[in-house]
Amino acid sequence: MSEKRRRVLGMGVAALDIINEVAEYPEEDAELRALNRRIVRGGNAANTLCVLAQLGHDCAWAGILGDDAEGALVLQDLRRRGIDTGSCVRHPGSTPTSYVVLSRANGSRTIVHYRDLPELSAADFARIPLAGYDWVHFEGRDPKQTALMLRDCAVRIPTTGVSLEVEKPRMGIESLFLGPDVLIFSRHYARSCGYSDPCRFLDEQWDRTDARLLVLPWGADGAYAQPRGGAVCFAPVHRPDQIKDTLGAGDVFNAALIDALLAGLDAEAALDRCNALAGHKCGTIGMDGLVT
Ligand code: FRU
Repeated sequence: MSEKRRRVLGMGVAALDIINEVAEYPEEDAELRALNRRIVRGGNAANTLCVLAQLGHDCAWAGILGDDAEGALVLQDLRRRGIDTGSCVRHPGSTPTSYVVLSRANGSRTIVHYRDLPELSAADFARIPLAGYDWVHFEGRDPKQTALMLRDCAVRIPTTGVSLEVEKPRMGIESLFLGPDVLIFSRHYARSCGYSDPCRFLDEQWDRTDARLLVLPWGADGAYAQPRGGAVCFAPVHRPDQIKDTLGAGDVFNAALIDALLAGLDAEAALDRCNALAGHKCGTIGMDGLVT
């Protein structure tokens, strides 16, 4: 449980996850029975907020949902967890849905994601009352709209911490590197930029960002971070006895990072907390009861 209760706004995806658990990942064109099926609310930003709420923070989510029954289920789940959904926009169309194959053999999750909704716009964001938030977390999605939202944060809440998750390479995503205090890169993004060495990747980002901290989880090896003007630090993963479910482990990592930074921890201590909570998640089915 976190030292102090803070207010966190998360911007990005909330989705319906249809998770089929199988003994092991099937071959292409196979036909098999699932051992179990779960239908739950997912989505990167929504998962991160759900863990931040478990860590004792007051959370709000802003994003887009379809005007369908699935959207209602997603909203119901967020509200049940005490997450404020007042800034959700409903749009004609289907709520984003992930069809997940979860392998019991190694906990791997294979995701087929379907989405036909537009992204939340900067005009939608401008309607959100931002005063009082201690942290705002963004997923790096539509770069044009997100750049405007980052600028809006700089004007309306200049002292509030802002993090941006850079998960996928997208045209123009680098235009978002000016503004956030913290950039959370994915290994996939670093590799797509041609890097196989995480330290080199981090070292070479500084001339395109004014962030104070860069973070780079590196899968089963551990995670790297570098504060502005400081050295790269590394923290190894915390491997659970059995890896049961890796779905959303990155989202849990992000929640632990925001919590640790709000508590004033330095990069190395923060990384260790992130790996501990993300490791614990990998040993746990689902997102509930991660914090005791
Ligand atoms: C896991 C996850 C799922 C979601 C998908 C897309 O990281 O957040 O819960 O459906 O990614 O956002």
